[in-house]
Amino acid sequence: MGTERRPIGIILNGVTGRMGYRQHLVRSILAIRDDGGLPLDDGTVLWPEPILLGRNEVKLRTLADKHGLTEWSTDLTEALARPGVEIYFDTQITGARMPAITQAIAAGKHVYTEKPLASDLTGALELARLADEAGIKHGVVQDKLFLPGLRKLKRLVDGGFFGRILSVRGEFGYWVFEGDWQEAQRPSWNYRVEDGGGIIADMFCHWRYVLDEIVAPVRSVQALGAIHIPERVDEDGKPYAATADDAAYGIFELDGGIVAQINSSWATRVFRDELVEFQVDGTEGSAVAGLRRCRVQHRSMTPKPVWNPDLPATHDFRAQWQEIPDNADFGNGFRAQWEAFLLHVVADAPFRWDFHSGARGVQLAELGLRAWKEGRRIDVPELGLAT
Ligand SMILES: NC(=O)c1ccc[n+]([C@@H]2O[C@H](COP(=O)([O-])OP(=O)(O)OC[C@H]3O[C@@H](n4cnc5c(N)ncnc54)[C@H](O)[C@@H]3O)[C@@H](O)[C@H]2O)c1
Repeated sequence: MGTERRPIGIILNGVTGRMGYRQHLVRSILAIRDDGGLPLDDGTVLWPEPILLGRNEVKLRTLADKHGLTEWSTDLTEALARPGVEIYFDTQITGARMPAITQAIAAGKHVYTEKPLASDLTGALELARLADEAGIKHGVVQDKLFLPGLRKLKRLVDGGFFGRILSVRGEFGYWVFEGDWQEAQRPSWNYRVEDGGGIIADMFCHWRYVLDEIVAPVRSVQALGAIHIPERVDEDGKPYAATADDAAYGIFELDGGIVAQINSSWATRVFRDELVEFQVDGTEGSAVAGLRRCRVQHRSMTPKPVWNPDLPATHDFRAQWQEIPDNADFGNGFRAQWEAFLLHVVADAPFRWDFHSGARGVQLAELGLRAWKEGRRIDVPELGLAT
């Protein structure tokens, strides 16, 4: 009570979309306000002032009213010129991102954005260069790193639990309805390559930072993509050709000879405990990490099953793993990264998930697509810093 507020204007572009609304506006920006703002070291609190930006005035006004907000606009140039605006955030469809971010950088705003940073590596590197030259602060959403399950996995790696890591197997996916007899739960642009869709473009940027930051740097990629469902039905009930991959079967070599295999699919039915799970096998132990949970089996606790298909299984294999405790309050991953970015902007706190890091994600997606088209394994070169 009575704490001085330091307001910070933030343009949220694409806020009517799935991610923009739920994760960024409601679960992050408004949640920070509901908790009284973000405390700063000088005793004041940072107070986000969102400006909702989009194409549809009615939707924006409805959204603003619903949450007691007053600032919205359908004109980026006008919004960037408003007093008090310090940050531009982009959560539009991927194909619309490049020109908007370029304009925000030119206006001298700090920029935070959903992934992928751009539709191709050339564009991503160009944005990184422009951002560095303008001296603005920049960041890309890398939410998986902030999930409880993956934070516990990182804790295990940092604590030396695995000994020598041998391999990683990731399963990501679920059934996305075709849109005919049941509405699709993802937007139709995700299935059109011409609109920036495709599961490789979408998910390989995540796998890049998950592998690089938690396990080891990615050195090569092989991938087989597929369009398993070639026709879908869009938001208006109209059939359309799905031109983008809806599944990808990837193999990545990491530093130290670690092999990572990750299946990503919107055409699979879930027989797992969570929508994404990674099994990491090491000489000293193994772990299975999901969005929230992480279970381990130490070397000393490893059973010795004997292959005999004539008999029913004698082990309850899942029961032989132990649950890693939280030991911390993890909170919402998107909000945690927002707070880190805000502190980076106002208090110069370190923040390494910048446009260069985002460009590495785009690079892996681009090379994954090339590996698929050319049917070969491709090395992942280090990206020279644009600065
Ligand atoms: N971090 C994550 O886990 C995660 C998950 C899903 C999506 N994303 C990213 O978030 C971004 C938005 O994805 P989404 O699933 O919220 O999509 P969505 O279709 O639900 O929302 C897209 C937003 O972009 C706006 N838009 C601007 N130009 C448009 C155009 N020409 N056509 C259609 N919409 C347009 C829409 O109005 C809407 O506000 C994408 O870049 C996507 O890669 C990230």
